[in-house]
Amino acid sequence: MASKGIKDRVAIIGMGCTPFGEHWDKGIDDLLIDAAYEAYASAGIDPEDVDAYWLGTMGSFSGLTLSTPLKIPYRPVTRVENFCATGSESLRQACYAVASGAYDIAMAIGVEKLKDSGYSGLVVGTAPNDGTLGSITPPASFSLLAPAYFKKYGLDADKGKDVISRIAWKNHRNGARNPKAQFRKEVPIETIKNSPKVADPLGIMDCSGVSDGSAAAIVVRAEDAHKYRKDPIYIKALSFIAGPGDGPMSTEYDFTTFPEVVASAKDAYAQAGIRNPRQEISMAEVHDCFTPTELVLYEDMGFSPRGTAWRDVMEGFFDLEGKLPVNPDGGLKSFGHPIGASGLRMMYEMWLQLRGEAGPRQIDNPRIGLTHNLGGAPGRCVSFVSVVGREVG
Ligand code: COA
Repeated sequence: MASKGIKDRVAIIGMGCTPFGEHWDKGIDDLLIDAAYEAYASAGIDPEDVDAYWLGTMGSFSGLTLSTPLKIPYRPVTRVENFCATGSESLRQACYAVASGAYDIAMAIGVEKLKDSGYSGLVVGTAPNDGTLGSITPPASFSLLAPAYFKKYGLDADKGKDVISRIAWKNHRNGARNPKAQFRKEVPIETIKNSPKVADPLGIMDCSGVSDGSAAAIVVRAEDAHKYRKDPIYIKALSFIAGPGDGPMSTEYDFTTFPEVVASAKDAYAQAGIRNPRQEISMAEVHDCFTPTELVLYEDMGFSPRGTAWRDVMEGFFDLEGKLPVNPDGGLKSFGHPIGASGLRMMYEMWLQLRGEAGPRQIDNPRIGLTHNLGGAPGRCVSFVSVVGREVG
């Protein structure tokens, strides 16, 4: 693997995140202003102090989307897009820019406003192609993971549904403890199990919601971080992988893994020096766009040996009080998925948790956190994994 990484060379010194949900009273401009100004205040800096910006958004174009509402005084603003991993991509670019020495202070910010589309679900424009790419909805494409996993590891349909329902139950339970989440109620497991079908075996409660939101991070070189605050968090690894995209056409691909996630996790662990993720990672925010996605991710990222994640789910290993809490903020399940913002929203939870500011969902003494952000569909996707920590070394 080619990436050498930037372990402990960049620190996050401030973050902001809007509440996610239906923001009928706000436009993209308002959401960007809210997230950016919370981040400036959190870092204790003025807008003029930021040398360069990276904006993640799928639905809006060019740096003007950010420079106009923020009234940025003639600074570089780069708009990036990388499917549902767009927010994480903006962070990766900002971190590399300060690590290179090109800038001292950079902001990564992401935004999306999906509720205004007038459609339920994610509106996906299908590009013209030669007919070999299927055109199915995200719930339908990710639903294929569930029966494939159940069959491979000997779960009947009812047991399998219990497992994925428990993932949704856990994430809603965590989201109920988060004032910024879209859905803030615990949901009984029977309600989840019996929720109206969207793409069998997935019901509404197996799906992430559709929401509006924005989140932002301010990064500097690690040696400068203590000029701004005593408790920054440090970037240990940033890995981004785009797969060859041949899964849906391949007879080898069995829909029980994301090879891109396996590759990006391996790369991130090499950068961060992590040998045993199950033991060494204190908590993770992962891309739970649909419940079986989270199930498969546990194994792809080495949190559980192959074929055993479902047991870990049922035993509470990934619960808030478990050995490796996953999606302590409630995940995409409770926040919805405003594309450009989600990756930074995940990092916002690391920011709070690693500094002991997560309130009723605070994990006991976390040291190393992981975020995982996925874009595309099973067999044809991009994957991002970051590792962050509260200390250098
Ligand atoms: N989880 C929990 N509750 C949800 C929900 C979800 N995913 N989606 C909607 N709800 C709730 C709403 O709060 C609302 O509750 P209320 O009646 O008490 O107010 C109710 O269900 C109906 O909401 P509505 O907005 O009309 O839902 P919908 O039918 O338009 O959308 C889905 C439901 C599942 C189709 C939509 O959430 C969806 O498509 N999710 C997947 C998004 C996606 O593909 N993202 C890309 C990931 S790769």
